[in-house]
Amino acid sequence: MKIAIVGGKLQGTEAVCLAAAAGFESILIDADPRAVASRLADRFVCGDIVREDPQVIDALKEADLILPANENDQVLEAVERIAAREGLVLAFDAQAYQITKSKLRSDRLFHQNGIPAPAYYPAGKPPYIIKPSEESGSAGVRRAESAAEVEAFLSSRPEGENWIVQEYLTGPSYSIEVIGMPGNYRTYTITQIHMDAVYDCCAVTAPCPLSPRQEKDFAAIACRLAELVNLRGIMDVEVIADEGQLKVLEIDARLPSQTPLAVLASSGMNFLSELADIFLQGTFCSKQEDRRRWSVYEHYRRQDGQLLQEGEHMMTQAAPLRFYRDFASSQIAVCDYEDRHDFRGIFINAADTEEELQAVRSRLKEHLKLLP
Ligand SMILES: Nc1ncnc2c1ncn2[C@@H]1O[C@H](COP(=O)(O)OP(=O)(O)O)[C@@H](O)[C@H]1O
Ligand SMILES: [Mg+2]
Repeated sequence: MKIAIVGGKLQGTEAVCLAAAAGFESILIDADPRAVASRLADRFVCGDIVREDPQVIDALKEADLILPANENDQVLEAVERIAAREGLVLAFDAQAYQITKSKLRSDRLFHQNGIPAPAYYPAGKPPYIIKPSEESGSAGVRRAESAAEVEAFLSSRPEGENWIVQEYLTGPSYSIEVIGMPGNYRTYTITQIHMDAVYDCCAVTAPCPLSPRQEKDFAAIACRLAELVNLRGIMDVEVIADEGQLKVLEIDARLPSQTPLAVLASSGMNFLSELADIFLQGTFCSKQEDRRRWSVYEHYRRQDGQLLQEGEHMMTQAAPLRFYRDFASSQIAVCDYEDRHDFRGIFINAADTEEELQAVRSRLKEHLKLLP
């Protein structure tokens, strides 16, 4: 199985690691010679897909499956155009992606179909959260303490911009993935999303403190949303638990970063193998398993000797990453560590019990501080 992954940032990093775990041969394509995932793949092809550089076209044609791992409209259009022209298999649902990339459009879908979601300003009580309709990774997300603050912010923005203002919910955030095609969907391990001070996700953990009832409800919401957008491929659904009720924050029909490797470490399920099955075989081929191990996927950065846990944004500034097993007592690490330098990395660990996992995480922190 040979997979061509288009985009070598954070989604690409996730995809290449999943490919390795699935035993797939990976070719990573990116125009940036220093793309963070460039050294992780079996082969790196540096070239521009929008310009249709010949080495890129050759790499795409050579692969059994193409996975777009980016949120760049021009790049996505180019992959679709080339795949259609050359008759290549693309693990991507452009139509569902168009709905989910716009929060205005997907929120409308929630409201029209009675899917619980945060109330839109001016309904609900302050504080409010303000976010751009078409960004991701928490870019541009801010909190407003009062209606006056919301009004001041909105009137400071140029006309024509699409902003969403919702009630600010204080409960924990959870995520679930759904894969498949109409009539045949699977959902996977629910993960908890831990945010840093700027609403950027700095750690993902599983399993979650949800009741079996809530888990079932969340899986049902995900399948319902998948049917509503007529999903063929993968989508993630993010919720906040508001006094026990799960309210949908957003959906995204594309391979996410962070949660897939946490789910793999906890359950044993690999989203990339699942995607390969449905796109190449037309259905799921492996038995669904859930080992329910305790897993964590987290980011650390060292700056001037200080160890900081931060959201994944800082990973975009990393030097090309390398994959390690047993690095500084982390079972898996994907980082740009070099002797006696600051570093940025992803650290993934799993254990049979929560206590054991806590011990592993504490040891990891101590160990990272002591690295030369
Ligand atoms: N209504 C809300 N209440 C509380 N926090 C929110 C709300 N909406 C968004 N957030 C926070 O901001 C983060 C990013 O918002 P989200 O809607 O997921 O957009 P994106 O991930 O596409 O930037 C969320 O993960 C959450 O931490
Ligand atoms: Mg989000």
